[in-house]
Amino acid sequence: APSLEELSNKLSSLGLKDPLPKFEGSNPSTNPVDIYRCYIADQLAPITGVDAKVIYPGLEWTSSFEKGDLVLAVPRLRLKGKPQDLAAEFAAKFPENPYTEKVTVQGTFLQFFFKAGLLSKIVIPQVLELEKKYGPAPTGTGKRIIVEFSSPNIAKPFHAGHLRSTIIGGFLANLYEAFGWDVIRMNYLGDWGKQFGLLAVGYQRFGDEEKLKNDPIHHLYQVYVQINKVIEEENAELVAKQEEAKKTGELLKVDPNQKGPTDNEARAFFARMEAGDQEALGLWKKFRDLSIEKYKDTYARLNITYDVYSGESMVAKESMEKAAVMMKEKGVSEESEGAVIVDFTKFGKEFKKLGKAVVMKKDGTTLYLTRDIGAAVERYEKYKFDKMIYVVASQQDLHLAQLFKIMKELGYEWADRMQHINFGMVLGMSTRKGTVVFLDDILQEAKDTMHEVMKKNEVKYAQVEDPEYVADTVGRAGVMIQDMSGKRINNYKFEMDRMTSFEGDTGPYLQYAHARLCSIARKANIPREELEKANLEHLTEPQATKLLRALAQYPDVLVNTMKTLEPTTIVTYLFKMTHLLSSSYEVLLVVNEKDREVATARMALYEAARIVLNNGMRMLGLTPVERM
Ligand code: ARG
Repeated sequence: APSLEELSNKLSSLGLKDPLPKFEGSNPSTNPVDIYRCYIADQLAPITGVDAKVIYPGLEWTSSFEKGDLVLAVPRLRLKGKPQDLAAEFAAKFPENPYTEKVTVQGTFLQFFFKAGLLSKIVIPQVLELEKKYGPAPTGTGKRIIVEFSSPNIAKPFHAGHLRSTIIGGFLANLYEAFGWDVIRMNYLGDWGKQFGLLAVGYQRFGDEEKLKNDPIHHLYQVYVQINKVIEEENAELVAKQEEAKKTGELLKVDPNQKGPTDNEARAFFARMEAGDQEALGLWKKFRDLSIEKYKDTYARLNITYDVYSGESMVAKESMEKAAVMMKEKGVSEESEGAVIVDFTKFGKEFKKLGKAVVMKKDGTTLYLTRDIGAAVERYEKYKFDKMIYVVASQQDLHLAQLFKIMKELGYEWADRMQHINFGMVLGMSTRKGTVVFLDDILQEAKDTMHEVMKKNEVKYAQVEDPEYVADTVGRAGVMIQDMSGKRINNYKFEMDRMTSFEGDTGPYLQYAHARLCSIARKANIPREELEKANLEHLTEPQATKLLRALAQYPDVLVNTMKTLEPTTIVTYLFKMTHLLSSSYEVLLVVNEKDREVATARMALYEAARIVLNNGMRMLGLTPVERM
């Protein structure tokens, strides 16, 4: 990014006298709107008698252009007098200037509209120069965040909750990284527990080395389903025996807690794992390693690479034991019927709803919650994070609230740095073949469906160079945009046909918008140096101005996204911007524009739009396509 000095020089070369003061949180060299904020705050200070530093943060962006580009709520200035009257007075006193139109008053708000002429000269060069860096400001430099996301369970389906966690978590990791944070992407696998004893026993009976190597995820799941069937059959047999015993009066001879032989075998196997038996652990490790390898490929299709594959199995016994001692000493935990529990109701009314949670079973074994306590401590010791996010479905709201409260009660000062990013359910997620879904299957089906949609337009399809790649990338965008369109907490219906459609606000629509801009650039074929020197005075049409105002907003949209942590904040913006683009094409011609200078100015505008769209899409985790 240019230095403040370079920027000041540039502004004066545009005929502007500009001190460009540096306000707290102001990033004029990456955010064009901040240039306007600096100017307006500076002008308003003598008019209102309020320090420019106080005015600056009050200059807020708006979500609709009718309200202006920036607004100031006069009551924020805490001045004596009627806000309406003050607003009218300030608006009247605001000087005529190259930055903004005459100030308008709406109730107690001052509305500032950017003047078209200067805007293009500020925004377009800034976007072209910063290119991939246009948007975020490096406000997180020196800070570290752990984003824990996806976290599927080995040998169990990758369900909708994991899909959403993967998409939302991948996006949040990108967002923090763009803002300069040191991001640790962490996958916390469900890779421990009694079910692994069961899986091992199942594998010994039904497993196939070859199948395991080729397709560990599906194969392990098959084995898991098969062995569970055996367990069910054995249980049914036991129940029948008990019924029989009841009838014959021989009840005493049958132990009601009796388990079937397979269940006992599974328990024994898991006990060996817990005791550190090398042979037992060897098999388990093989399952884990092969699954991770496979998952890595799938995550790569979503542009996600993890820094750490941790998991429930990796939490050290010592960490949990240490935590157990602390909990006891601090009176956080107590004994109850041989088990150790935390009774949250004792922490006051606010925590009543957290109820009670077991942290150690009667037989001394640990639970999901116990492992999370140990894991949090280990993560802090290892990474000294400034923030840690758990991207987990809202079904686990209670679990995470309990975890956070325990950490707080244990007195860890970093307990407040943990945050649960939750989300609603996906309804009706299934493939055509059945209801059990793995990530790979979802992506494959999105690709196939997309491919069919593309084939319907024969002429166009014939021109696509690599239809497999395009179908894959665009189909994936469909899945992801559908997921990120609403607020995270909302449920949504999984609709393959809808998400792969070009109609409406879909992933394919965004991809199409990007490919169209690329296509215009190819056809126009104007060298970059010419775009950089374009005479932007030619951008006079209202469509151009609206588009420019939208492009200027992108950095503010990102700042806002850091507050909401909602992908929809960006998705909504990108659709608004691409709609403006659609309505520009028939007015702002490039290829069919005879005046080369005019065509060049418009191309510079389109190129800036392409950069913003590309940046936004990549932030969301999509791969923008250049042709489709
Ligand atoms: N594996 C868990 C599940 O599938 C999600 C893990 C969430 N993260 C955590 N630290 N508890 O339900």
